[in-house]
Amino acid sequence: MTTGPVLTVEGLTTSFRVKRGGRMRRIAAVKDVSFTLNQGEILGIVGETGCGKTTVGRSIIRLVKPEKGEVRFGGVNVQALSDSKLRPIRLGIRMVFQDPFASLNPRRKVGDSIAEAGDIHGLFDGLDDRARQVAETLSAVGLDPSFAERFPHELSGGQRQRVGIARAILPSPKVIIADEPVSALDVSVQAQVLNLLADLQEKMRLSLLFISHDLAVVGQISDRVAVMYMGHILELAPTQEIFAKPKHPYTAALMAAVPRPDPAVRIKGSTEVSEPPSRLEEAAGCPYVQRCPIATALCSKTMPPLRVVADGELVACHNA
Ligand SMILES: Nc1ncnc2c1ncn2[C@@H]1O[C@H](COP(=O)(O)OP(=O)(O)O)[C@@H](O)[C@H]1O
Ligand SMILES: [Mg+2]
Repeated sequence: MTTGPVLTVEGLTTSFRVKRGGRMRRIAAVKDVSFTLNQGEILGIVGETGCGKTTVGRSIIRLVKPEKGEVRFGGVNVQALSDSKLRPIRLGIRMVFQDPFASLNPRRKVGDSIAEAGDIHGLFDGLDDRARQVAETLSAVGLDPSFAERFPHELSGGQRQRVGIARAILPSPKVIIADEPVSALDVSVQAQVLNLLADLQEKMRLSLLFISHDLAVVGQISDRVAVMYMGHILELAPTQEIFAKPKHPYTAALMAAVPRPDPAVRIKGSTEVSEPPSRLEEAAGCPYVQRCPIATALCSKTMPPLRVVADGELVACHNA
């Protein structure tokens, strides 16, 4: 069951200054991105490497500073908060990363890594309570509580990602942003971690923003899917609709590159097409115009807004 929005992103625009051809240029990594994440929903964000998915996630929790737009969580505009007021955000919106090995301190016991947010924010009522909460969280992610005493190098990739998820859920967040959480895992382990995320979403009434370049993976877990290309959302629709009848030509091309979402036979990374060129901020028109089979003159001039084309289906295309 999903109800109203828990997280609202409106007109999010994030740029980076990079050196190009000997001088500093601004690259718009995320441009005018808007969506809502509803209570109890899994919203997938899919798109090729470099399209801006990670930057959306990092902008939401203010790991990078967006130049425009609003992020509302629990009725508060996150972008307007002073750094000292970020605590509810740091506890309420938690990240799971692609490479749990990189995000775990190799010299810290797993239990201490899981307890980190609780330690920082004073969530534990003494050491017994800390140990109890760590043990409960380990069980919740399908690991024996004895894992608290182990070190990351003693764990398999799947176990490490379970620890990454445990770190995220310990403070009982409302939202989890999972950025390529299964992309570093063997295909056989991917399904187990996806199942765990789906289970936790249901049990903890979480809302999940699930980021992946892999359309088949996104399709397996998401209620709705947002398709990104060069910083823009080009289509956002319920998963069934988007798989049955993609409305944006780019979504259709992505679908064609996915044989059939059978995770057992899928070869990891096979759906990833060549990286699209990065876009300078001043570029006008639809970012997909050069690759689009149905582009018209208007498409080079004006970026089509994301508009409602059917119930709950949004498409940014002049010709869809
Ligand atoms: N810290 C950064 N500095 C400069 N450019 C960046 C930075 N982070 C991301 N980018 C650029 O922003 C664009 C989007 O990157 P990213 O959000 O990581 O995409 P994705 O997660 O979809 O692969 C890319 O062109 C990338 O090179
Ligand atoms: Mg990324």
